Amino acid sequence: MNAVVLGGRTGLLGQALCVALHKRGWNALAMGRADLNLFDRPAVEACLANSRADVLFNTVAYTKVDQAEEEPGEAARLNRQLPLILGKAAKATGVRLVHYSTDFVFSGKKTTPYTIEDQTDPRSVYGQTKLQGERELMSLDLPGLLIIRTSWLFGPGRINFVTRILELASSRPELAVVHDQVGSPSFTRDLAANSLTLVEKEATGLYHLANSGQASWCELAAEAVRCADLPCRIRPITSAEYPQKACRPAYSVLDLSGFTAATGVIPRPWVQALREFLFSREEVPA
Ligand SMILES: NC(=O)c1ccc[n+]([C@@H]2O[C@H](COP(=O)([O-])OP(=O)(O)OC[C@H]3O[C@@H](n4cnc5c(N)ncnc54)[C@H](OP(=O)(O)O)[C@@H]3O)[C@@H](O)[C@H]2O)c1
Repeated sequence: MNAVVLGGRTGLLGQALCVALHKRGWNALAMGRADLNLFDRPAVEACLANSRADVLFNTVAYTKVDQAEEEPGEAARLNRQLPLILGKAAKATGVRLVHYSTDFVFSGKKTTPYTIEDQTDPRSVYGQTKLQGERELMSLDLPGLLIIRTSWLFGPGRINFVTRILELASSRPELAVVHDQVGSPSFTRDLAANSLTLVEKEATGLYHLANSGQASWCELAAEAVRCADLPCRIRPITSAEYPQKACRPAYSVLDLSGFTAATGVIPRPWVQALREFLFSREEVPA
């Protein structure tokens, strides 16, 4: 099987997908910014045809949540317009498209895990444009379309919340971290492997996928610092004490039952996945 992975050279999830694909014996073509103009549909179609792609994975997005509030046009270009172009290219070439979306499509007012049937109500430009991207794709009537909403990614290869916390914690005695936002942390390696399981089951439509369990940012930070054995206190603060440009959901835990029903797999708890990530970082390359 052949896959093209957009964002596969530098993206947090894209890189993990390339590793997972190789492990399962797929040919994976990682595409970076300089390799292909993603907004040039004929060029995308030529790339899919030349690589004899069976599946196109799109991990490219405008992911700077706060900056999106100031650059709504650019956020919409990447999060709404690009999926539409890719969807049309996938349809024209008969390639299956796997696209990623976010828990930020929800308002965060619920107190039980969000299912795919739950009403979306994004409160940020990032969330709004990602939802528009989902809708553009669904309107295409694209056979084999798979949209995976995920959340709170951590893993190797690019800076993320966990690596940032560890970097700060190694030089400071105390860090203040928000405790009133709760979500589903996701290890990119698990997300990539579980995504491929969905693809291999020929699942289509919308799925929620993360690690099992839930955490606040403060809990995730505290667990990371504890596992890394750093002498840094994690002090809980409220969102009001840490104002950010974009509004984030107070609660965005994802219900994973659809994924489990389709695959028979229960994603492992985020704490276990976090340990694997942190301990593998300590391994000294031979
Ligand atoms: N990170 C999270 O916590 C999180 C949570 C929920 C959902 N998601 C979703 O999961 C998916 C993957 O996220 P991620 O965290 O892996 O993203 P990421 O690490 O920020 O990677 C984004 C990728 O998109 C590329 N890109 C950005 N702008 C581009 C442009 N104008 N032209 C070409 N390439 C461009 C980046 O290339 P450069 O390196 O060259 O910039 C990078 O390879 C996205 O759909 C995101 O919305 C992420």
